[in-house]
Amino acid sequence: MRKVLIFLAVLALGACETLSVPDEPVGGPGDAARGLRLVQAHCASCHGLGTAATSPYAGAPTFRSIAAKGGIEDMAEAFAEGIIVPHKGQTVMPEFVLNPQDIEDLIAYINSLK
Ligand code: HEC
Repeated sequence: MRKVLIFLAVLALGACETLSVPDEPVGGPGDAARGLRLVQAHCASCHGLGTAATSPYAGAPTFRSIAAKGGIEDMAEAFAEGIIVPHKGQTVMPEFVLNPQDIEDLIAYINSLK
């Protein structure tokens, strides 16, 4: 719970810096279980989920390593804007535009792997 609050505080700070209109997340705190379903549907073909040590596509980091690296909140902002995360693999990561609740859920899932 404390982690979630800290995270929301970070999000709120970020929002103040970059948005002219303060945006409340639509559906409240992220739900890691929904986040898992989201990544199973859209990301698992390339990214290793859960505690997997490797990804199906070798050039893609596992979500666990993404969690360990940190900064997922900033990347999530890029998802909201439909910006493709930087990549250098041969398989180009497709562009995803996620709604605010999906993003909350995705972040909750990734942070649950820390
Ligand atoms: C077609 C394969 C593919 C799919 C599908 C895919 N990715 Fe990726 N993704 C990649 C590759 C390849 C990289 C590695 C980028 C690099 O190392 O430069 C990557 C990198 C990332 C990163 C790390 C970016 C960074 O700067 O470290 C995140 C976060 C990420 N993907 C999230 C997702 C999410 C969330 C989904 C599902 C909504 C998804 N990816 C679906 C291929 C994919």
